[in-house]
Formats: sequence, structure tokens, C-alpha cells
Amino acid sequence: MTIQEIQQEILRMKKEQNVCILAHAYQGQEILEVADYMGDSYGLSVQASKSDASGVIMCGVRFMAETCKILSPRKRVWLANPQAGCPMAEQMSLEELRRLKEEHPGYAVVAYINTTSELKTECDVCVTSSSAEKICRALEQDKILFIPDPNLGSYVADRIPEKKFAFYRGGCPRHLVVTPQDVERAKKKHPDALVLVHPECRKEVVQLADYVGSTTGIMDFARKSKSQEFIIGTENSIVEHLQFECPDKQFYPLAVQLTCMNMKVTTLMDIYHCLKGNGGEEIVLPQNIMDGAGKCIHRMVELGG
Ligand code: 13P
Ligand code: SF4
Repeated sequence: MTIQEIQQEILRMKKEQNVCILAHAYQGQEILEVADYMGDSYGLSVQASKSDASGVIMCGVRFMAETCKILSPRKRVWLANPQAGCPMAEQMSLEELRRLKEEHPGYAVVAYINTTSELKTECDVCVTSSSAEKICRALEQDKILFIPDPNLGSYVADRIPEKKFAFYRGGCPRHLVVTPQDVERAKKKHPDALVLVHPECRKEVVQLADYVGSTTGIMDFARKSKSQEFIIGTENSIVEHLQFECPDKQFYPLAVQLTCMNMKVTTLMDIYHCLKGNGGEEIVLPQNIMDGAGKCIHRMVELGG
């Protein structure tokens, strides 16, 4: 079958089965073409609960499918490729979280959404890169233990100097590859380009950027900007998507290594097999995890909306 024939068959089966396909913005173009919605982690969470489909196929990583299931417990939710995990989400154990909490009494525990559902059961609220600042501001506590990404955490902390923050030593292994030297090199090569970066990048990189935001934030900024050239400091599929969408503008990757293999394991055939009933993984979580992580995720939607 050709790619187009597979896409046609996916579109036919998803309609017949009343299934919606959600795709994170780091997915490939051929997947976005069959998706009902494409967006950042926050957008995907909200979209999942709004959809009236009876099933959802998540093309992204495991924590996204679990968040979707927790927000839409009556829907059947599949992770298109069961191997798609996020290394950052797996970084911190429950024991480490408990120890940190003991060392920081009185702190609100804020979990980046890139965490396991198990970890979320012992946190107060979770946040995404696009909602973190708003939610941390809205919390009544003036002391915040932010896990697991110290880069996103310190980006938020710098914007809320009236609150005290403590961090863990995690981070996204992909965004961490970008160095300030990469920014300087790219700027030298493209002096008229604006530098747009994700807050998972190192602080020294974020400080050199013209705009800092989530994947959706970066895409919206580039679409609306009057500038013609952009250096993109997040997963390189965003360079490709923007170039398709805005053919009159120029987009350059900040670092060629900025490719998330975990996001890239999902293929069109995974979606096809999922709809055929012989692929994907249906997300089933124990009730204590649904309830415990649910509190943390619902609070995010309440404060971040
Ligand atoms: P956002 O999609 O929320 O910007 O996060 C990026 C990311 O790394 C997803 O895992
Ligand atoms: Fe996880 Fe980083 Fe990949 Fe996002 S880009 S899924 S945070 S490893």
C-alpha cells in the first residue's frame, strides 16, 4: 500500500469506529495529516476531554496517553506505539520524591506533566511548559518544589521572583544537547533570524533567545511574526512543520541532534494496526492511580485554563 492508501484506510476506520487521533507536534507530517488534533502537551490534555469520540489513539509518549485516560476515564485510550516513553518522565523514583518532600516541608509539589502517573499521585498539581508560570503564580504557597526539570523550573522561577523554588536534577536529554555555542553559531550564520526556544533548554540557551515557549507557543509566534527567518530550538520536526505551513519564511534547526527518538518511534502503520485491533496498547490504570494522579491533573486544568 502507498502512504496515501494507508492514510485513507486510517481515516475510514477511525470514522467507522468513532475514534479520534491526537498527535503531539513532534510527530511526523504523515501522522499529522490523519490526526484530528495536533498540539503541545497542554493542548492534547484538554482536547482529549473535549472530544466526544468513544476512543482516542495517542501519537505521542506514554505520559500523554495516561493523562488522556485519566481526564477521560470512560473513553478507551491507546498509545499508538507502546515503546514510546519519555526518558525525562522516567527519571525520578517515588522514593526520591518522598525524600525531597521530607527535605522541603511546606513546599507545594509541582510536577511537570512529563512524569509518571505514579509520581503524580504524590504531587499537588502538574503543569505543562505553556501553563507552568500561570499555575505556579496561582498557587497559594510561596514555596514550590518543582520536579523533575530544573530548566523549565528555573525559567518559571525567574519570572516569579516573589516565590522560592527548589528543584530536582532531571531534564530532557534531547533539549539538553543544545549549548550557547550552538546559538552563537546559528546566529552568526543567520544574523536576521529570531531564536525561538523551548524552556526545557539550558538556562544559558534560554537567556540568548528572542522567544521562549511551548511547541504550540513557538509555532504560533513564528506564524504571526513579521520576521522572515527563525532558528528553532526545539525538536526538529517543528522546523519541518513550520516550513510546510509558512513556505515564504525560512526555518533553521538550532542543533541537528535535537531529535527525540522516543517521539519518532510512532509510525503511520502503528495507527493502522491500532485501528485494526492488532497493535498499540490500551491504557489501563489501577483505580488508586486514576484517582491520585487525577487530582493533580484536574488541578492543572482548573488553574491553567
Ligand atoms: P510541549 O509540547 O508541552 O511544549 O512539551 C514538549 C515536550 O517535550 C513533550 O514531551
Ligand atoms: Fe521527553 Fe524530551 Fe522527548 Fe519531550 S523531547 S518526549 S521531554 S525526551
